[in-house]
Amino acid sequence: MDKKWWKESVVYQVYPRSFNDSNGDGIGDLRGIIEKLDYLKELGIDVIWLSPVYKSPNDDNGYDISDYEDIMDEFGTMEDMDDLIKEGNKRGIKILMDLVVNHTSDEHKWFMEAKKSKDNPYRDYYIWRDPVNVEEPNDLRSTFSGSAWQYDETTGQYYLHLFSKKQPDLNWENEEVRNRIYKMMNFWIDKGIGGFRMDVIDLIGKIPDEKITANGPKLHEYIREMNKKTFSGKDLLTVGETWGCTTEIAKKYSNPDDSELSMIFQFEHILLDQQPGKEKWDLKSLELLDLKRALSRWQVDLEGTGWNSLFWNNHDVPRIVSRWGNDKEYRVESAKMLATLLHGMKGTPYIYQGEELGMTNVRFKELEDYKDIETINMYNERKKQGYSHEEIMQSIYTKGRDNARTPMQWDDSENAGFTSGQPWIKVNPNYKEINVKSQLKDENSIFNYYKKLIKIRKSNPVVVHGKYELILEENKEIFAYTRTLENEMLLVMCNFTGNETQFAIERKIEFKFKELLISNYSVNENDLVDRIKLKPYESRIYKFIL
Ligand code: NOJ
Repeated sequence: MDKKWWKESVVYQVYPRSFNDSNGDGIGDLRGIIEKLDYLKELGIDVIWLSPVYKSPNDDNGYDISDYEDIMDEFGTMEDMDDLIKEGNKRGIKILMDLVVNHTSDEHKWFMEAKKSKDNPYRDYYIWRDPVNVEEPNDLRSTFSGSAWQYDETTGQYYLHLFSKKQPDLNWENEEVRNRIYKMMNFWIDKGIGGFRMDVIDLIGKIPDEKITANGPKLHEYIREMNKKTFSGKDLLTVGETWGCTTEIAKKYSNPDDSELSMIFQFEHILLDQQPGKEKWDLKSLELLDLKRALSRWQVDLEGTGWNSLFWNNHDVPRIVSRWGNDKEYRVESAKMLATLLHGMKGTPYIYQGEELGMTNVRFKELEDYKDIETINMYNERKKQGYSHEEIMQSIYTKGRDNARTPMQWDDSENAGFTSGQPWIKVNPNYKEINVKSQLKDENSIFNYYKKLIKIRKSNPVVVHGKYELILEENKEIFAYTRTLENEMLLVMCNFTGNETQFAIERKIEFKFKELLISNYSVNENDLVDRIKLKPYESRIYKFIL
């Protein structure tokens, strides 16, 4: 067993804008998070991944940073930030900063200087190219629609932006840029943070002229350099956001020799419900067998050679209960089943705010109610391409990022207790039914189920270190697997459908019943584990002795 504190931890992601507003301006803030630390302690999490709180003009809700060493006005002050770190540490909760260094805001002083002239000392901090035949240097596209190149009148060149035009890409080839970033990272490390979540880190080795964006040739060289010059030997949690990653690449990133990062977020499972080779808006339903194959491959391939993150949700993806569960008659059961499936696996689990309540997607009627730049740009682009309003809205209801960004539902009072003012984005109208206050009181709530899953992880090393094996591989309704460590074995079974279904196994090895660790229905004590009729979305974890 290679023990590390971050393998035993559970991380909770806070999207500050939508978490808790302490001053009534309709926008969540740092004081608001401090007010809720005891709630998070009650849930049992160890780490908060804080989406960006730095100074930002908010073109992309803080993922466009204009000063890495200052705090966004709406969120508070550096003193509030220091207090959050201190108050978190007091409760055994570490703060993970969101490190957005693939790009800055165009309002960052480096870019403001860089665009002044071709010979400005900051010019080479960014990626500039001459026009080709009076047009963009090539056809690279921005994730937020349109070309990834923006023409700059003053100097007659284009700059690269893989996201919005207000997010110019930094030039990692430039050593001075890298050293400025490392210095900034050390500024935060010295404040006592628990580590970094690294935004689209797989893009920093890009070669735009060859249209290579992810996994460029120097990517791992840069990460190893960053490791040496910043967090090496400091026992922090570092997690890279890596969209186009394979298990082979993941072994480099999360090599147990600590030369790069602790772990990565990989998105293979997240891409399974879109049409292959198309965009996320091109919908397709999920095949359970695809999900089993994808998740299992990562479990098996990284065994002993790397480390996984486990997640269903974040601020960029729709709510899991609406996506692959049933957010109507089986909302509670399916939210618990999905939690069981994920938290039983090997890796560090991440919970996104509101997931522990089974918060759902939202369906705003008007486009004006949507705030996300990706959603709005896509709407306009597809409208021009001839898609109907209804078609586009269907994609937004299913995949839009604002599904995850509606305010946290604290109670059944106006605006779900998120703010006393006018929220920056509308609250999901189901807050009267789904909220923290009611779930804290109900011992069968989704919140209390998550709490129990976290406790199980803390008291059973097999959950952290056990070897994974998929069983019932070809079953299209049940996702089941075992985890084994020394003489202990867990059996995790999840009915992925709204029907009853029969779980049946032939024992290849002998095992003795020890206990039922958790289940989302009341269970007949006399059930023979080899033959169980599972109810809609039923899930159980059994523990056995071998
Ligand atoms: C990934 C972040 O998670 C997303 O929210 C953001 O828009 C892009 N990176 C650009 O920073």
